[in-house]
Amino acid sequence: MSRQFFVGGNFKMNPCSQAEKIALVKILNEADLDPSTEVILAPPSLYLIPLLETVKKGIKVSAQNCFNKNSGAYTGEISPTQLANAGIPFVILGHSERRTLFHETSELVAEKTRAALDASLSVILCVGETLQERESGQTTAVVESQLKAVVDLLKENDWSKVVIAYEPVWAIGTGKVATPAQAQETQAEIRSYLSKAVSPSVAANTRIIYGGSVNAKNCRELATLPDVDGFLVGGASLKPEFVDIVNSRR
Ligand code: G3P
Repeated sequence: MSRQFFVGGNFKMNPCSQAEKIALVKILNEADLDPSTEVILAPPSLYLIPLLETVKKGIKVSAQNCFNKNSGAYTGEISPTQLANAGIPFVILGHSERRTLFHETSELVAEKTRAALDASLSVILCVGETLQERESGQTTAVVESQLKAVVDLLKENDWSKVVIAYEPVWAIGTGKVATPAQAQETQAEIRSYLSKAVSPSVAANTRIIYGGSVNAKNCRELATLPDVDGFLVGGASLKPEFVDIVNSRR
């Protein structure tokens, strides 16, 4: 069993200008990135194709969301097939900002995951608990219920195209990173849930990455944990330190 280290940069609704975008791509294109890390960048939809055309070979591009249908009267949406036809290989689904601000249920996230896989996209599936849920001892139940909705719609071989991002909501954009013990404990629980709910082989082979205030300072210790197979990075993916995060296992 060997899971390739995976680092994704989720730009969210940034950068705002063409100049910022060019500066960011230049940093990444000139950086010495560990070739053993799979690197994915998820810009806003508007920048997907320009990024695909300018980013250096080896860096993959991901959408931040897609719909659960392939075409039709869905104003403002982008379909999995449109992404695949444009050469975009990945999509992030179930991010807590989508679940909270845009009221996406676990069932909708599961339908989107099914539709994305049917369109041959790979999926970065985000799960995670709020602070209140963690403090009331519900972390495992919350994360498992988010995963169960997806497990119910996937076949065993679909999981080879899924990366699970554990992103505790209280750690996102707050500067409060999960402790290594918290990240390892929850990610080991996710793996053990996959073993029971899908299969031991899917559990052993699926990458489970951590997201939430990852930066150049805290990434190295987190990267040594047995069940942390990489990171999904928000704020720090817009800065030169993203390179150190990609290289955190070097
Ligand atoms: O998807 C990445 C994410 O939500 C974490 O954001 O800014 O805390 O690294 P940030």
